[in-house]
Parts: sequence; C-alpha cells; structure tokens
Amino acid sequence: MNIDELRNKVEREISSLKTFEDLKRVKASLLGRKGVFSEYLDTLKLLDKDQKRIFGKEINSLKALTEVRLQELEALYFDDEKRKQDTLSRIDITMPGKVPILGKKHPITQTFEEIIRIFTSLGFSVAEGPDIEPEYYNFEALNIPKDHPARDMQDTFYVKPGIVLRTHTSPVQIRTMESQLPPVKIIAPGSVYRCDNDISHTPMFHQVEGLLVDKRVRFSDLKGILSIFIHEIFGANTPLRFRPSYFPFTEPSAEVDIGCVICEGDGCRVCKETGWLEILGSGMVHPQVLRNVGYDPEEVTGFAFGMGVERIAMLKFGIDDIRQFYYNDIRFLSQF
Ligand code: PHE
Repeated sequence: MNIDELRNKVEREISSLKTFEDLKRVKASLLGRKGVFSEYLDTLKLLDKDQKRIFGKEINSLKALTEVRLQELEALYFDDEKRKQDTLSRIDITMPGKVPILGKKHPITQTFEEIIRIFTSLGFSVAEGPDIEPEYYNFEALNIPKDHPARDMQDTFYVKPGIVLRTHTSPVQIRTMESQLPPVKIIAPGSVYRCDNDISHTPMFHQVEGLLVDKRVRFSDLKGILSIFIHEIFGANTPLRFRPSYFPFTEPSAEVDIGCVICEGDGCRVCKETGWLEILGSGMVHPQVLRNVGYDPEEVTGFAFGMGVERIAMLKFGIDDIRQFYYNDIRFLSQF
C-alpha cells in the first residue's frame, strides 16, 4: 500500500480546483462513498492485522486532514454559493404555492364608487371639504341661524366653541360656490358626524352631496337627474316618489322615497308598513344660500341633494344593522 501516492493524489486534486463545482467534484471523488479514501480503506481488508493498524491510522488521519482542508476552502472562497445552494435545495419547488388572502374594498367604499361613477357619467365632478368646519359653513351659510330650531334636527359634536365635526356634506356646497362662478356641477362624497348611536345610526357615517347651479335650472332637472340615478343604482323598475319636506337651505324641498326593496311595496317592518323607503333629501337651492356666496338668485338657480351612503348600501345589500359596517368582522365584510 502506497500512502505517498494517495497523499500526492489528494494534493494534485486540491491544488487544481478553481470553481465551486470543482470543489464539489473533488470532494466526491476523494471523500465520497465510492471515493479514493473508501477504495484505500477497502483494500485494508487484504492486509494482516499489524499492517491494517498502521496503514489504517495513516489513511484516516490523511482523510481527516483532507476534510478540514476542503472545508476551509469552502468557507474561504465559496461561502455565498454554498448558502445559495443550501437554500435552493431546501425549497421544494413541487409544493403548491400559498394562496394569498386577497383583501377587497369595504362595502361602503364600493357604494361610494358606484354613486360617483353614475354622477360623473352625468357630467358631475367630485369636490371635497374638511371634516372639521366652522359653524358658519355647517349652519349659518346654509341658512340655519344660531337659534334656528332646525339645528335640533342634527345633534352636533363640537370640537370647541364655534367649530364642529360637520353634520352633513352640505358645507361643501358653500365652499365650492365661494371658490368659483356658476355653472357649478359637483358631487361631494365624505364622512359626516352626529351624536347618535343605535341599530340605524352610527356617530360617523357617509354622505354624498350633489349641487347643480346654472341659468334656468328647474325642479324637473332635479327630478330627472335623481330618477336616472335611482334607476341606475337600484334597477330600472324601482318605483320612486318625491315627497314634500323641509330643509332650511332648499326651497321647495323634497325627500325621495323608493319602493321598499324588501316587501316590494306590500308593507313590512323595514318600511314601517308604508311600502316606501326614504333615501335622500333634496330641493332647489334657497335664494338666501345663493346670496350668501355672492351669487345672484335672479341670474342663476340650482338644486341640491344629499344621500346617506350606509342607507343605500344597506338597501342594496340587504343589511339590517348599520353597525355591521364598522365591527371590522372579516366574515361580514368578505361577503360583498
Ligand atoms: N344635508 C341634508 C341632511 O343631511 C340633506 C340635503 C342635502 C337636503 C341637500 C337637501 C339638499 O339631511
């Protein structure tokens, strides 16, 4: 048995390796199960006991040395590649991928988007205003003076004296008209706040305001636009009616009802046996409101409307408790 020959072979192999592939190949050819060292150790069987001991010791110590040298080379020059290959070999590419849980838009956002889509297709643009308003914009400019009983209609959160969380989106009417001359044709989606909390009221909810001011705008224009809107959003066969009402900032005023989507007009709990559901307030812009923003009511007229987004979403989706929108329960939300 020639240990020197083995030592030379190891030396030659190791000193000639250049790449990580070489290293793996050399490692296998020397130390592998059918490698050079196994071969040598196998042939020990043919020797007698004493020789077996002597040669065995030499081969094993050379083998250990070779292992250490290859490990050192690997750590010194091929560390990155090794880590990459280790990771790759741990990834089972035949395994099915994880299906990510896809989020979706909140039903209120979906309803907002549908309302906005319909009105922008009718030529309205989208306007916005702040959630925190001076009382002037939320009330006075809309013809609701300080001592006016209509203020009782809306339980208001005061941020500090004179400053409120807006109780409706109507202040955006004022801000828009103050900042531009007629014609005005906007909708204003946004959050509004009222001190209210039960099965049909949350302290924060959403409205979409509409305002159109131009020469010779008439009540029939309001009826036309709102009829198109309701037929788009609730279906072409939905009955609707305009019912006389009162708002300080419109005259005349009308509330719009649709035929009850639950009982289809027969009368049920949801429509309080009337067969009708109220879905929005509207009217012709009050001349005083036009004067407040510097418009001349002899020159221009307009209509305005305001609708509750939760209310529309509840009717569209058949939801009976408004608070469901805000519990953040995925089981509820993922249905829409
Ligand atoms: N701002 C009214 C409300 O919140 C709705 C409305 C808007 C009515 C515009 C008429 C015109 O109840």
